[in-house]
Amino acid sequence: MRKRIVAGNWKMNKTMEEAQWLTSEVANMIRTEVSQEVTAILAPPFVHLSSVQKLINDIPNIKLAAQNCHQEDAGAYTGEISVSMLKSIGVSHVILGHSERREYFKETNELLKAKVDKVLAQELIPIFCCGESLETREAGDHFDFVCNQLTESLFHLNEAQFSKLVIAYEPIWAIGTGKTASSEQAQEMHAAIRAHLASKYGTEIAEGISILYGGSCNPGNAKEIFAGKDVDGGLIGGASLKSRDFTDICKSF
Ligand code: PGA
Repeated sequence: MRKRIVAGNWKMNKTMEEAQWLTSEVANMIRTEVSQEVTAILAPPFVHLSSVQKLINDIPNIKLAAQNCHQEDAGAYTGEISVSMLKSIGVSHVILGHSERREYFKETNELLKAKVDKVLAQELIPIFCCGESLETREAGDHFDFVCNQLTESLFHLNEAQFSKLVIAYEPIWAIGTGKTASSEQAQEMHAAIRAHLASKYGTEIAEGISILYGGSCNPGNAKEIFAGKDVDGGLIGGASLKSRDFTDICKSF
């Protein structure tokens, strides 16, 4: 069975005190309420990673993710964070290619390819995001657009590397808008993504990759969305900032 994953992307939110409070609440709720078969991942801002790690490190089904990394090992890159730094403080996953990074920081498929390589080289797990704009969907090009993002950033990987990935489908028009994809739209795209992966890596590998849905996911809609047979969990923004909501989403399988 594929891994069921719910990842909370906190984006640029929470002071130190707030981050510790939220983590303690989430840790308590997950420990007592969420099945070991579900992996919860917390992705706080860089400055909180270390302190969050200390609060979750004895809970086997809570992992720690960074929201980004730099594509070089080290050097004169003021303000940037390398994958080896992340690894040294207990980070296990790195979100790559979120649409906000693509849009505001001009991250291209080519740059993301380099970041994916660095993350895998340090034996961390990329959570690779893809997704189309409303314009692209309305033009009917959404399947090609998303498949092309995957091809250009991931299809140079060998089978062993590829098998480690987690993929997150996040339609841009659903992020932070309160407008989610319908469960049919999510399932349809997840199936298309899996078929695309299978065309390159074969069915067995494609069937093993967890594909998460992201975009206005909340405790009220998660169950229906996660019911899709190719939907293996969620990447949660706004609702991950509330311990009760995030935990309830983790219980929505
Ligand atoms: P949202 O964000 O849940 O607030 O829509 C999702 C994301 O950007 O990962």
